[in-house]
Amino acid sequence: MFELKDKVALITGARRGMGKAHALALANQGAKVAVTDIDLDECEEVAAEIKSNGGHAAAFKMDVSNKSEIEKVFDEAVKKFGRMDILVNNAGIYAPKSALDITEEEWDKLIDINLKGEFFCAQKAAKEMAKNKWGRIINIASIASGQVGVGIAGGAHYTASKGGIIGMTESLAVEWAGLGITVNAIGPGAIDTPMIQDAQITKEAMDGLLQRVPLKRIGRSEEVAAMVVFLASEESSYITGATFYVDGGWLAV
Ligand SMILES: NC(=O)c1ccc[n+]([C@@H]2O[C@H](COP(=O)([O-])OP(=O)(O)OC[C@H]3O[C@@H](n4cnc5c(N)ncnc54)[C@H](O)[C@@H]3O)[C@@H](O)[C@H]2O)c1
Repeated sequence: MFELKDKVALITGARRGMGKAHALALANQGAKVAVTDIDLDECEEVAAEIKSNGGHAAAFKMDVSNKSEIEKVFDEAVKKFGRMDILVNNAGIYAPKSALDITEEEWDKLIDINLKGEFFCAQKAAKEMAKNKWGRIINIASIASGQVGVGIAGGAHYTASKGGIIGMTESLAVEWAGLGITVNAIGPGAIDTPMIQDAQITKEAMDGLLQRVPLKRIGRSEEVAAMVVFLASEESSYITGATFYVDGGWLAV
């Protein structure tokens, strides 16, 4: 099960954190992987790690808020690997700030990266996937996305972007089902990555947060990557338009 040999995957925001874990996990199942992010050198390092494990990978500099760069990189990846089967829309920023102080520029920047970027990557990927009548698009949202009761102070723009991803996922799933493309979202809980480390959450606040998580610990990137592998595989063929929370039970409380 979960065999991805002959499949080609592109992961955004893959130089570190969860995106890197997704790239390594998909490559481990046999996929050829396009590792993309804003820093080419770090993407090259991830691609080199995949190749040293016997996999196939190529690195590309791609800013997801730049539509022409998206078009160019997808074209280059398809030229290199011959097709496009799996997109993991993972790139994102957090940038916590009081809702009273968020500027128009800050709002636009976050929405451009977290939401607009996911849409235009999905659009470009779907055009390629439609050629083979098979595709898997996996959009990374968050438990902080509305409806499930996890609002975060300082995250009005972030939460708006992540809620938008879930709504967009449902629409794309409906539109592209006939093209053989499934579109699903993953809502991670608190996962140990540089994003969480950069947020400088105090030990007290983190302890309080983890108290609310039945599994009583922060998640690992690999635990989210396992869901990515499943959703990327043939075995998830009857699942589309869904959101899966990988949160240690947080939402069950
Ligand atoms: N860590 C968590 O607890 C958590 C929880 C829920 C959701 N998420 C989401 O998971 C995803 C991965 O986050 P992470 O925790 O691994 O953080 P991270 O900061 O390690 O990874 C995010 C990646 O996105 C890249 N990125 C930022 N701006 C970009 C742009 N304009 N174009 C392309 N790439 C860009 C960064 O360079 C980085 O490599 C994000 O979408 C994040 O919102 C994280």
